[in-house]
Amino acid sequence: MNNLKILVTGGAGFIGSHFVKLALKKSEVRQVINLDKLTYAGNPATLKPVEEDPKYQFIKGDIADASLIDTVFKNGIDMVVNFAAETHVDRSIQEAGDFIKTDIQGVWVLLEACRRYGIKKFIQISTDEVYGSIAEGSFTETAPLMPSNPYSASKAGGDRLAYSYWKTYQLPVVVTRCSNNYGPYQYPEKLIPLFVTNALENKKLPLYGDGLNRRDWIHVLDHCEAVWFLTEKGENGETYNIAGRNELTNLVLTRMILDEFNLDPSMIQPVKDRPGHDRRYAIDDSRLRKLGWTSQIPFEKGLKETLQWYKENTAWWEPIKHGEFKQYYQQQYGAIS
Ligand code: NAD
Ligand code: TYD
Repeated sequence: MNNLKILVTGGAGFIGSHFVKLALKKSEVRQVINLDKLTYAGNPATLKPVEEDPKYQFIKGDIADASLIDTVFKNGIDMVVNFAAETHVDRSIQEAGDFIKTDIQGVWVLLEACRRYGIKKFIQISTDEVYGSIAEGSFTETAPLMPSNPYSASKAGGDRLAYSYWKTYQLPVVVTRCSNNYGPYQYPEKLIPLFVTNALENKKLPLYGDGLNRRDWIHVLDHCEAVWFLTEKGENGETYNIAGRNELTNLVLTRMILDEFNLDPSMIQPVKDRPGHDRRYAIDDSRLRKLGWTSQIPFEKGLKETLQWYKENTAWWEPIKHGEFKQYYQQQYGAIS
């Protein structure tokens, strides 16, 4: 595809912002429109480096706002990459309403606009969490979906709704399901940035339960490259797992972070487990790899660089941690300091 006008939603968030920057570098891209509601997780500061790029346009708005979305599509869109979502499991456990509005209803509004105006590709960014937990082995794309918290259940709704628009209306939809991302610009509510910034602030690291839950970690830039690859190589109606192939218990990961800062394991504060906490996520991404994609960033190198980034960019995360986040932290973790 050439001379593309792309709508990226959720482009002021962690992964979406990296994708916007990647897409702007592509010669086949004419314009990138970033539509983002700027919830607590969206941060315009992340996009400062591309604000002046003539190919870049920002629209503050909600993907579930049908009349706004209609206006955006009226001017012609070739491809949609939908990153917009409420994304934090613990917040979904506190209150699920916004998850249902954005992660299901918002996807429906976008799909309807795509159907009305026609597009060349709709990429729905789903998650490996839609499969639920697996004790051994790994899920392929044909495994049943067994999401077990309000976040993953909402994402499963959006995921299958997108598929249904391919099956029913032949809308050119591709669904991706990636494992846990890490890297610069991640909101410090998620495990790695929370623990790294707490370590930098000399605060305890609140580890849930026995710390033996397992996640597969992928660098955000590898994820974005895989998504770009699938905009070109992904088959309509198909779903693709994207794995880091780097599985760790939370405890081992936490120790790696502490080691990097020369901090003692006594900095770990075991806390009450997350309700319904999925024990292990593991996906098989051979369908994607058979098409020729490979990840580029080894975990240890990526983690070191990420830690360094948080060290050097306190101006990005300190205002977050001392703003809205403070109240959330108190509610979620109580008096840990
Ligand atoms: P994030 O929370 O950092 O960013 C989400 C962005 O979406 C924010 O900028 C927010 O303002 C925006 N947003 C929220 N509701 C919106 C709405 N109604 N309309 C427009 N914009 C809205 O999330 P992230 O970690 O960058 O995740 C991006 C996508 O990738 C999500 O769909 C998520 O489910 C998926 N995903 C994330 C991971 C991960 O490890 N972070 C892994 C797999 C898949
Ligand atoms: P998280 O980054 O929230 O991602 P997800 O739950 O979507 O996989 O959490 C990653 C793992 O870390 C998960 O098993 C929960 C655990 N965790 C903690 O132990 N303590 C924390 O404070 C957080 C945020 C997560």
